[in-house]
Amino acid sequence: MTKATNLIWHESEVSKSDRRELKRHKSAILWFTGLSGSGKSTISSALEKELYIHGIHTYRLDGDNIRQGLNKDLGFSPEDRTENIRRIGEVSKLMVDAGLFALTAFISPYQGDRTLVRELVEPDEFIEIYVKASVETCEERDPKGLYKKARAGEIKGFTGIDAPYEEPAHPEITIDTNVLNVEEAVEAIVDYLKENHYL
Ligand code: PPS
Repeated sequence: MTKATNLIWHESEVSKSDRRELKRHKSAILWFTGLSGSGKSTISSALEKELYIHGIHTYRLDGDNIRQGLNKDLGFSPEDRTENIRRIGEVSKLMVDAGLFALTAFISPYQGDRTLVRELVEPDEFIEIYVKASVETCEERDPKGLYKKARAGEIKGFTGIDAPYEEPAHPEITIDTNVLNVEEAVEAIVDYLKENHYL
């Protein structure tokens, strides 16, 4: 693939702060990370609904959906996962620029990939939310029957079984799903957003 050269960044007449002003709230990436079956999708969906009720503009990006469209050329090798997260990071950055809260629900198993996304935006525009649940718990839940398939060797390189998950070192928020239910998780995130003047 030949890389494009001679590209010049074009600034818009309407800035990120202009768009935020119109919405009367800040914008940021709410980056959910955790094992398959940890609850990323459920919690981010419930949060999206709660924010919508309060007039907050959001857009949610979810692994299963994005992998059927934008990233349908990618699999689950380490390189493909890195490219998956890189693209999601860039798309999320555009959403922050558009004045939205981007809610992303991807396993994003590598610390390095998550750090790269963090570095794409301003320090206060990336909020890492670790949806914590042990492999044992996720395997018990197994909502899609994928752990069973992975144990049977029908899926190779499954996160938590024969592919790694690197726990976030310093997430802004940790949701321990053994302790909090979905409503409490949403409340904890909304409290964080209020306390830190995002809302
Ligand atoms: S990653 O690691 O961030 O690139 O993965 P992500 O884009 O979030 O996609 C995870 C969903 O894909 C399904 N799936 C797998 N997950 C992990 N490992 C392997 N090998 C795999 N194969 C398919 C699975 O349904 C994940 O969905 P969630 O919502 O996390 O359960």
